[in-house]
Amino acid sequence: MMQVPVPFSPEQASSYSGQVDALYGFLCALTFLVGIVISLVIIYFAIKYRRREETEVGKPIEGSTKLELAWSIIPFCISMGIFVWGASLYYKMYHAPGEALEVYVVAKQWMWKFQHLDGQREINELHVPVGRKVKLMLTTEDVIHSFFVPAFRVKLDVVPGKYSTIWFEPTKAGRYHLFCAEYCGTSHSGMIGWIDVMEAAEYQSWLSGGAGEGSLASSGEKLFQQLACNTCHRSDAQGRGPVLEGVFGKEVQFQDGQRLIADESYIRESIITPRAKVVAGFQPIMPTFQGQVSEEQLLQLVAYIKSIGSKSPGAASTNAQPAKPVAPPQQ
Ligand code: CUA
Repeated sequence: MMQVPVPFSPEQASSYSGQVDALYGFLCALTFLVGIVISLVIIYFAIKYRRREETEVGKPIEGSTKLELAWSIIPFCISMGIFVWGASLYYKMYHAPGEALEVYVVAKQWMWKFQHLDGQREINELHVPVGRKVKLMLTTEDVIHSFFVPAFRVKLDVVPGKYSTIWFEPTKAGRYHLFCAEYCGTSHSGMIGWIDVMEAAEYQSWLSGGAGEGSLASSGEKLFQQLACNTCHRSDAQGRGPVLEGVFGKEVQFQDGQRLIADESYIRESIITPRAKVVAGFQPIMPTFQGQVSEEQLLQLVAYIKSIGSKSPGAASTNAQPAKPVAPPQQ
C-alpha cells in the first residue's frame, strides 16, 4: 500500500477489511465528486445569471421532464447500488460461517474477558491463529459496550441480556488494538486491549501452555451438577424438566404453540427467565438462576448444553447422572 504521512485508515488485517475500505472509499469519492460538481454549477450559474441592471426582472421558467427524470432516476440507482453493496457486506460480516473457531467474550466495566472453548481464559488480550475464521459470541455483565478492532474493521455493540455474534479472519500475524467504542462510564477510555494474531504453530503451543481447568463445556458440566440442574434435566426422560441432550440446534415447541430453534440466546434466557418460554408438556416450575450465575458461568452452561446437543436423547444413558441432591455452588 502507498505510504502516506498521515494514515487515513488503519492497517488492513482481516479478510474483509479491503471490502469495507472499498465501500468506504466509494462513498467518500462519490460525496467529494457530488460536492465539487454542485459547487462548480453554483459558481457558474451565479456568474451566468447575475443581475446586470437595477431594473432587471427574472424570466419565468418552464419545467423540463427530461431533466427531472434524470435527476430522480440517476440518484435513485446510485443509492440503491450503495444499499445493495452495503447490505451484502453487512450480511457477510454479521453471519458467522459454520466452521469458525469460537471464542466467548464477556464485557464488563471496564475490561474484556475472553473464554476459549478449550478452557483458556484471558483478560484484555485475545490470542487467535492467523488465517482461521474466528467467531465471537459476546455479552456484557452491565451496560452496553462496543467491541471495536479497527484493523479488522470489526465493530459490534455488546448488549446486556443477549448474545451478539461477529466473526473475522485475521490475515496477518501481529498485535492489533481492541477498543470499547461505546461510552460506558468513568474508565471507558481504559477499556482497551489487544488481539494477538499468531502463526498456527505458535498458536498451538500457546494453547497447550495455558488452560489446566478443562474445557468450557466440562466446567459447564460441573456447574450443571453443582446447581443440581441434573436432578430435573435427566437424560432418561424421567425428570421434571426437558431432556437437554440433543436439544441444541433443534426446534423446540412451547406451551403456547410457538416454535424456536434452540440457540445460545434461548438457553441463556431459559436459565435466567425460565418462565419466558415453557416447553410444551412441562410445568413452569424451574426457578430463575438470575444473580446465582455470572455471565461467564452462563457461557459455560451454554457450552455444556451445546456439547451434548449432538447426542440423541436416550443414547446418552451411559453417562446419565443419578438424581441425587448435590452440594451448593462454591464461591
Ligand atoms: Cu466499555 Cu466503553
